[in-house]
Amino acid sequence: MIDRQSAGVFPEKPHTVFRAPDGSIVYEEMFTRDGFAGCFSYLYHRYPTTDHLDVFASKRGWSEPTPSEAGNHPLLRRLFDSNAVTPGGAFLEARVAILTNSDVNVLLVRPTQSDDVYFANGDGDELWYVHEGSARLESVCGWLDVVAGDYVWVPKGMTHRWHLAGSELRALVFEFTGGVHVPTQFRNGCGQLVMDAPYTHRDFKRPQGPVHTFESELAGPHTIVAKKRGKFTESVMARSPMDVVGWDGFVYPWAFPIEKYQPKTGLVHLPPTIHGTFAAKGALVCSFVPRVLDFHPQAIPCPYPHSSVDCDEIILYLRGNFTSRRGVGPGAISFHPAGTPHAPHPGAYEASIGHTRSDELAVMMDTEKPLLVTEQAMALESAGYHDSWKRPLA
Ligand SMILES: [Fe+2]
Repeated sequence: MIDRQSAGVFPEKPHTVFRAPDGSIVYEEMFTRDGFAGCFSYLYHRYPTTDHLDVFASKRGWSEPTPSEAGNHPLLRRLFDSNAVTPGGAFLEARVAILTNSDVNVLLVRPTQSDDVYFANGDGDELWYVHEGSARLESVCGWLDVVAGDYVWVPKGMTHRWHLAGSELRALVFEFTGGVHVPTQFRNGCGQLVMDAPYTHRDFKRPQGPVHTFESELAGPHTIVAKKRGKFTESVMARSPMDVVGWDGFVYPWAFPIEKYQPKTGLVHLPPTIHGTFAAKGALVCSFVPRVLDFHPQAIPCPYPHSSVDCDEIILYLRGNFTSRRGVGPGAISFHPAGTPHAPHPGAYEASIGHTRSDELAVMMDTEKPLLVTEQAMALESAGYHDSWKRPLA
């Protein structure tokens, strides 16, 4: 939720009579968060949202995360290769869950087809980071163009589908069960993003639309797949659910290009939280972008060895020379669970002295609850990562 937006047509006053040019009533839907106490949008539909013809347990969707015995004991630093995910399928199916806890599922996505049905995730908000390819997100709020380098927020329960542009897309997806939002300290009392936040209202891309107007033919599939408690339910509707002619509110999909993120640098090394981008219940997503490094003449710009004893940490490496890591390339995902010491690879700490710039690009997430490695992730593991810290002892 960034700020209020509106698009299309809607009545002057909420909850009042609103008619199409042919005289038929337009149906208001209150799309609300936190019961009726949180952010919401008014959606104005041509038809009732309850006009279904059939409903049944669906075979669509992706496999639930299955924790791996060997992947979680012994406790190790691990590395996974997102490039090893087999591409194929539509966005709804092409998801591989690699890490899980009750606040977040971490998924890798490599679709090669557009969605042929609509989807509404009732289990949580989806925060995508698209690192290759481009697509259009079609939702009841309109069209959102997405390119590599964009974070994309897909609100919980919002009907949408992805249209692939090109042959393939690669993304890291966080499915947050407790919501995801702009960190509280980035807003002032009136909800505006403060001047020292790492982004401004102008940096966010909003949906264009809505898809449907009073004058256009209602287009799109009639099927909605909904996910709840990890299970998928399919509803065949009387017509396409893209019948919204106007909306007004705070809940709508948006995209944020990581290149717009404004990094901060200190006299000496600042903690990873300085890269905080989006907060969720039990998690913080951080963006590491190209930047000037610490400017004390004796600064050690490489991250200091640390034991963040209450957080698990994952990093998706995207571009550049990540100063603290050796042998990780674009598409690699490191997993450093709490309970293991975190430190730069041998030699990296000393070698960073005197560096004034970093060209690294990476997405990190810290979680409060332990993440479980899944069976699906073990098929992507790069062996020997934990032992890559070993060095000859004097
Ligand atoms: Fe760490």
